[in-house]
Amino acid sequence: MRRSKHWFFLGAVVVVALVVAGCANPHAQHSAEMPSHTKAVGGQLSKPTISKDSQGRVVKEFTVVAKEADWQVSPDYSVRALTYDGTVPGKTIQVEQGDHVKVRLINKMKVPVTIHWHGYPVPNKMDGVPGLTQDEVAPGKTYTYDFVATIPGTYFYHSHFQSSDQVDRGLYGAFIVLPKEKRTQYDRDYVLMLDEWMNHHGNMGQSGSHMEHGEMNMGGSGMNMDHSMMMGSGQESSMPQMDHDEMMKQMYNLYSVNGKSGSLVQPLTVKKGERVRLRLINAGYMTHKIHFQGQPFQIVAMDGHEISDPPVVKDKLVVIGAGERVDVSFVAGKDFAIDMHDGTPGAKTLVIPVRVIGGEKTPAKADQLSLPELDMRKYATNSRTENVEPSASSYVFRLNQSMQNGAEVYTINGKTWPNTDPIVVKKGERVKITFINEGRSDHPMHLHGHVFKVISRNDVRLSVPLEKDTLLVRPGEKYEIEFTADNPGNWMLHCHDLHHAAAGMMTVVKYQDYKSDYSVKMNTVHE
Ligand code: C2O
Ligand code: CU
Repeated sequence: MRRSKHWFFLGAVVVVALVVAGCANPHAQHSAEMPSHTKAVGGQLSKPTISKDSQGRVVKEFTVVAKEADWQVSPDYSVRALTYDGTVPGKTIQVEQGDHVKVRLINKMKVPVTIHWHGYPVPNKMDGVPGLTQDEVAPGKTYTYDFVATIPGTYFYHSHFQSSDQVDRGLYGAFIVLPKEKRTQYDRDYVLMLDEWMNHHGNMGQSGSHMEHGEMNMGGSGMNMDHSMMMGSGQESSMPQMDHDEMMKQMYNLYSVNGKSGSLVQPLTVKKGERVRLRLINAGYMTHKIHFQGQPFQIVAMDGHEISDPPVVKDKLVVIGAGERVDVSFVAGKDFAIDMHDGTPGAKTLVIPVRVIGGEKTPAKADQLSLPELDMRKYATNSRTENVEPSASSYVFRLNQSMQNGAEVYTINGKTWPNTDPIVVKKGERVKITFINEGRSDHPMHLHGHVFKVISRNDVRLSVPLEKDTLLVRPGEKYEIEFTADNPGNWMLHCHDLHHAAAGMMTVVKYQDYKSDYSVKMNTVHE
């Protein structure tokens, strides 16, 4: 049974791995002569072979090898990770708008895998959802993703095979599409991928060993978590009654950026006066609140879509839900630190120092100040589509949680996958969905294959709609979104807290007349 398997994994150990030589920009010395957007964007860049297709488009072909690797997250925590290309995150796949992208995935793991292009409107066949758009890529097999990079922005790729386990263990990387027309020149462009891990291993970092799935040993604390505790059914447990998600937040106690935590985090090095772009990608499952200590900054994009006229703000927390992306820009003045104000144990483990050459030196530490959150609804994206015709069909999704057979499940209108109601659309129609969070947990709702507009929050219309593909819906919130059914296929719509997706919070948007040459195997579809 999928769900129990999932929780079994969760009760086990997780996680991942590598490099980020990424943050140390290898071109630092040459920034003056390099046109901005052609530089490395953090992480290692995957190198394509380049050719032309019959329509004269530039073809960039990448190879991605899924494999296990030992990954050192922090000085005292390493893990046998599942990776793309041996590192966590995998290499950044960076292309230019208009490029014809081909990615050959080779599976050298013992388990199946896929690649899903999170947030990107690829053709349905390229969406990477096993059972729905393709067969899982079995061990030893390959699969080639092939699509045109139609829109620019910050996206990511991740496995969609048991993603609550596989993404958690490291199968993700950044996907960056540089715009044809650059509005702003950036001297530096960094990817910062956020994630969380469970460090309850005591000394396993040294031994290099790892626990098998199903073991749950709380290391030095002497605490043993068994399955029933994980399920929250706990009469026999000695733990105080705690909300399931609250317990998870205590357990995922190590936060990483580009796969590294604590003293292994590479400082970002910039020069005084340089304009820097940071592409924050939340590849984890938690909501994070990020502080750019004392540094004035602008939000320049959300979920890949550029913001028009962003104001300069300071000491406001940037809230980023799982699966969301936020691009920030600032002009380097003096050293500062980027830290997390989540109020969780893990938040204390991650501080990203920004070192400014020629700037004032300050030590980087977490400041834990209580600060207001930036209100993202005041922002508007430069809309690509102008039509705001009334919606032809509308749906209401009440998001909640409940106990079923001793397990916490996450529900849409009281139902769990695969019993949730699909949304059936006609090509070209306008569809409205109202998300109402009636539960106790954050639900970052993600729609595959489309960009939607956020129309209102708690019945207050946004003055200009925000374009997104993932929308954090917090407890008590109600949002209306709209999208145009312009990309025929079968598309997942689910919570990007992938544990919630695995425990029920998923459905599908189906196009009425779509004929897939892939034969859908609904009972094998999962998060
Ligand atoms: Cu990023 Cu269906 O997922
Ligand atoms: Cu959720």
